[in-house]
Amino acid sequence: MNQESKRKTCCGIFADWLLHPLAAFLALGLLIGGCARLPAIGFHCENLRCEYLKDPLGIDAASPRLSWIVASSRRGEKQTAYQILTASSAELLDRNIADLWDSGRVASDETSQIVYSGKPLISRQCCFWKVRAWDRDGHPGDWSHGARWQMGLLAAGEWSAHWIRAEAADSSSAPTLVIRRATYESVDQSGSADVTESVARQVKNDRLNLVVNNKNMGLDPSSNHVKQLRVEYDHGGRSFQKVIDENRTLTLPDDLAAPRILRKSFALNSPIRQAVLYATALGLYEAHINGQRVGDHVLAPDWTDYRKRVRYQACDVTALLHRGDNAIAALLGNGWYSGHIGNGGYQFFGKVPAFLAQLEVTYSDGRTERIVTDGTWKWHPSPILSSDFMLGEDYDARLEVKNWDEPGLDENQWAAASPHDEAVTLEAQVMEPVREICEIKPKTATESRPACWIFDLGQNMVGVVRLKVSAPAGTEVTLRHAEMLNPDGTLYTKNLRGAPSIDHYICKGTGVETWQPRFTFHGFRYVELTGLSNQPASDAVTGIVIASDTSRTGEFACSDARINQLQSNIQWGQRGNYISIPTDCPQRDERLGWMGDAEVFIRTATYNADVAAFFSKWLVDVDDGQSAAGVFGDVSPNTGGGGAPAWGDAGVICPWTIYEVYGDKRILERHLPAMIKWVEYLRLHSSGLIRQRDRGSDYGDWLSIGANTSKELIGTAFFAYSTRLVSRSCQAVGRPQEAAKYEQLFQDIKAAFNKRYVGADGRIQGNTQTAYAMALKFELLPDDLRPKAAQYLEEDIQAKGEHLSTGFVGVSYLLPVLTQNGKADTACRLLLQDTFPSWLFSVKQGATTIWERWDGWTPEKGFQDPGMNSFNHYSLGSCGEYLFGGIGGIRAASPGYKTILIDPVICDGLSWANTRYDSIKGPIATSWKLNGNSLQLKVTVPANTTATVCIPARDMADITESGKPIAKVREVKYVRQENGRLIFQVGSGAYDFVSKLD
Ligand code: BGC
Repeated sequence: MNQESKRKTCCGIFADWLLHPLAAFLALGLLIGGCARLPAIGFHCENLRCEYLKDPLGIDAASPRLSWIVASSRRGEKQTAYQILTASSAELLDRNIADLWDSGRVASDETSQIVYSGKPLISRQCCFWKVRAWDRDGHPGDWSHGARWQMGLLAAGEWSAHWIRAEAADSSSAPTLVIRRATYESVDQSGSADVTESVARQVKNDRLNLVVNNKNMGLDPSSNHVKQLRVEYDHGGRSFQKVIDENRTLTLPDDLAAPRILRKSFALNSPIRQAVLYATALGLYEAHINGQRVGDHVLAPDWTDYRKRVRYQACDVTALLHRGDNAIAALLGNGWYSGHIGNGGYQFFGKVPAFLAQLEVTYSDGRTERIVTDGTWKWHPSPILSSDFMLGEDYDARLEVKNWDEPGLDENQWAAASPHDEAVTLEAQVMEPVREICEIKPKTATESRPACWIFDLGQNMVGVVRLKVSAPAGTEVTLRHAEMLNPDGTLYTKNLRGAPSIDHYICKGTGVETWQPRFTFHGFRYVELTGLSNQPASDAVTGIVIASDTSRTGEFACSDARINQLQSNIQWGQRGNYISIPTDCPQRDERLGWMGDAEVFIRTATYNADVAAFFSKWLVDVDDGQSAAGVFGDVSPNTGGGGAPAWGDAGVICPWTIYEVYGDKRILERHLPAMIKWVEYLRLHSSGLIRQRDRGSDYGDWLSIGANTSKELIGTAFFAYSTRLVSRSCQAVGRPQEAAKYEQLFQDIKAAFNKRYVGADGRIQGNTQTAYAMALKFELLPDDLRPKAAQYLEEDIQAKGEHLSTGFVGVSYLLPVLTQNGKADTACRLLLQDTFPSWLFSVKQGATTIWERWDGWTPEKGFQDPGMNSFNHYSLGSCGEYLFGGIGGIRAASPGYKTILIDPVICDGLSWANTRYDSIKGPIATSWKLNGNSLQLKVTVPANTTATVCIPARDMADITESGKPIAKVREVKYVRQENGRLIFQVGSGAYDFVSKLD
């Protein structure tokens, strides 16, 4: 996708939808809907994808799954059959010669998860395919446009490349370590002490290795407060800063393996038909061929548990090569593998990054050639002096190597790379890579003190700064990043903890220089620029937003601008935290795949973007992190800890959600063994089915406010819920006996739960909002107690002045549970509440992302404890599900949106709401508007699905559709009346209902 359209994707709201060809198509449908007598008018298949990706290269599923959507403007349209042709070349496909697979006419209304069932596919196989469908009357539509996929390298034996490193042969010239300043301080700033002398004294043989604690520091600057050590030191003639938490080990010099350049020159002796580069790294790489960058991914490969597997990327590089002399080169950095990561510390997976590449060239005459990484590759220091996610990146433009990625370079000064073996399994990239999404221009630039400029991008974002400066050679520009400003206008960086997030750029002095870091990222809204003597140009700093490039599927807008800002904050939270894996936050020294956060937000995420491929990959990381006993990690990839209720349960809830949203049974089949193992672990580590013990770090209803839900109760409730989902998963994949077994276990846990925590009057121990929300959502109560529990939940909200008290665990269930139990008015009041604590409180304070804590900043108290105060944590934004599923009323009534429920909540306080969701079956949209005492509800239902539509009204006579009394519209079937709503069944198409309210 080109940069222009990406910019729209990133920054536009709803505008994209108006430009969407399907929108125009469906709008046309609105005009002519219902009167089309011609068969199959405009009926066709589009949006062809393989394994959720468009024209992917490097698929290693032996039988990949295909999907498309059926587009048609006709009401009640259905696919009655389909035919897929798959050929080994585009030419054959054009001639309808399906030498790989002709499915024949298959009588089916399925359009997704269609398993390729042709000739066995071999490594590198190119597959060109198209599909046509038969409409509801049995008329065939046209063939779709052609799509393609290419298989990856299916067996380890396909790799002849060797892992290579860029290692200095002689390490005896290790430079001297000088401690310049060491400060031992409490994170809340209540005490601080200069410990430079005592730290410097502990340097032995040019190394420092010490545990940060009162004993080793020789004092306690603030007893009973969490502390950290800040060290400024010189090493190899360069200065560094490191912040390390109490009780962690500090090791210096870190010898941050500086990113290096690897390259090889080679000749190709014939014209080229096709060339594919398969490449990956233990670390991060950026590959170049003949002076051009390969692909548009950044921070590749995506984060996995490198002890088990690493993902390789496949790119078609035919256009970059030519007959004659060529060169391939790569920059290699540390990333998650050998840099600092959250609680894993430094060099968690390995010490020195390694690179692997296999360039496969097919000549026009059919001969093939491979250029692979091995001992013939050369390496050289790069201008990137150091790079690390937490520390930042340093670049000296004076050290750039001219023509480093081009043929004809004199490689005399280059050293030989060291080849070695790695036991890690290589698997294809199965998800959208991290890419640059858009560029943000600063809103303001202020000189906060002489020669110190602070740029405000107006949006808390994740990525890097693109710097554009012109200064004499040797000028060192320093960029510091922060999410917020202190009251005095300086950067608020305390909440970054051990992630200083500082980039340095040393100018080469050749005019305008443009630079952006390659192997780091920061979470920030404000950028401080120092080092220039003149005022920087207005475009000196722009923000380059990066994210896993999942395509946007949802838009929501309503009459309350504050809610629209909330939705924007949720989307920005997702964008900034779905970077390779679902993370907790992007700015401080954490950025981990926290399972609880992922689990609580996943349903919201599925509305905002197509996250099927993203989760297909991450769920493998989740399984990789499971212990032999069945304990899921608290973070995945697992860098330590595990077994906490609600966090570990992500290993069950997330695969189930992907199944519900995308109808993906294969994900259930793949993960069921791990899901069952987790539930069996919980059973074994319970007493009388109550989770009294072994709850790991046991975070409870994390960051709840003014309520304390029993952790044992939370553990037992999640045990029940996971068991139920395992039962349903078994049922979904055709394992009825196990389904029955786990349903029985669920019933037993439910009984134990009721006995222990629920009174005869329906009161649940602790009387907290989270306890009621969980019990209702997980169906833990007998039917007769459900209304009572809903009543107590509502009463507690009212007693708190229409405020919530839920933390991460309860927050996502609150609004749906209230609404489904007849308390929609209370849900709406909570949603529109803007006093503390509430979702709109942070919006009112000017937030542009979701805060970690309800009180991250308050006018009375200022900033919360900087030890844990992220301003970009999506968990509390899990109310996004309610915007789409509640206010917008778009919900899946069966897996994969085969049947749809349209049941919008007409919130008191809102006068309209427009919602769109591109489901796997096609676009679904609702748009409602109050006009005096009438409600207009426009609904779009994709072809090949049916929807149940709930319309608030007293009587059939009060409703029209496209101006006609609804009773006369034959495509709309009355079903029943319920809770002040009339319920209808419709097929696909566009509908325009108007109902008279009281
Ligand atoms: C993270 C959370 C996470 C939690 C565990 C925090 O430090 O930022 O989002 O879920 O630890 O309670």
